[in-house]
Amino acid sequence: MAKERFPKEYLDKYASILGSDFERFIAAFGTKPKKTIWCNSLITTPAELCEELSQRGFALSGLGFSDNAFIIDSGPERPGQDGAFGQGKFNLQEKASMLPVVALGAMPGERILDAFAAPGNKTLQLCCLCKNNADITCLERDPGRIHTLQFNAKKYGMKIDAKKLDFQKFKDNEGFDRVLLDAPCSSEGMARKRLDALSEWSEKKVANMSKRQKKAIVRGFDLLKDNGTLVYSTCSLSPEEDEEVIDHLLSQRPDAKVEKTKLPGVNASKGILRYKEKEFDSRVEGCTRLYPHVWDCQPFFFAKVAKA
Ligand SMILES: C[S@@+](CC[C@H](N)C(=O)[O-])C[C@H]1O[C@@H](n2cnc3c(N)ncnc32)[C@H](O)[C@@H]1O
Repeated sequence: MAKERFPKEYLDKYASILGSDFERFIAAFGTKPKKTIWCNSLITTPAELCEELSQRGFALSGLGFSDNAFIIDSGPERPGQDGAFGQGKFNLQEKASMLPVVALGAMPGERILDAFAAPGNKTLQLCCLCKNNADITCLERDPGRIHTLQFNAKKYGMKIDAKKLDFQKFKDNEGFDRVLLDAPCSSEGMARKRLDALSEWSEKKVANMSKRQKKAIVRGFDLLKDNGTLVYSTCSLSPEEDEEVIDHLLSQRPDAKVEKTKLPGVNASKGILRYKEKEFDSRVEGCTRLYPHVWDCQPFFFAKVAKA
């Protein structure tokens, strides 16, 4: 991939973070990862879905970290045009973006907050893993996107309470067992899909997002019950939006503990401890970075934090 197509600030940033891996990182943007799907186990089973799709020429392999997750090894060009997709039997979802919900470990019967929910890819995963038997509150402030979330809730058969509301205005007195913060971010990870996702990227935008993310994570953590669990994720690999946000939470809330996540079949990298003049709390090493040149995925970050 020609470097001239990336913003110079972006190249400088990742050359300094990745050192000798930088060339491989940039080269990964010139290739597309295989498509991956999430089986909607609310209305079919993984075995039935594989059988149905194989009859139409798809070859699928399990992704190891969840019975619902598959990679399409070969088959028709546009799986989104398959009838089973229209019927809501599967969702097309990038494999790295499936990991936050798998790491969250939500269970049936729990009270769960999906604070930045639309269009609902991770909400569907939550509903499947809780067998549609959990009290799931979903927030989304954008009117068009809440509509898409409601459309998807119907399509996939998800039982959720979707509210059109700004997370910063959300009030709750009971506390949640699990909080998912799939935070709005600079979206630089989308660049592996379309490089023009970086056309509006700048260090200024990253710094602005970081301020909002720090506010959100403290608020999300305060909404947890004691012994509750939060997962924070972004599709950005900028340390300001990732480790710096977790470092901020650890400095503000002494009862926050980073939990390391090891998921089968995932080629993950640790959180970084230093960036420019900043040195982070050593516990941020327990965060997870997902690099396109390491796991052939969308660039992604997540951290699991317990309230203990
Ligand atoms: C990264 S996307 C979420 C993707 C979603 N979790 C999924 O997996 O399909 C972030 C979403 O948060 C919404 N959002 C941004 N700021 C918000 C706020 N303060 N309160 C509620 N929603 C917000 C955006 O409109 C966007 O839909």
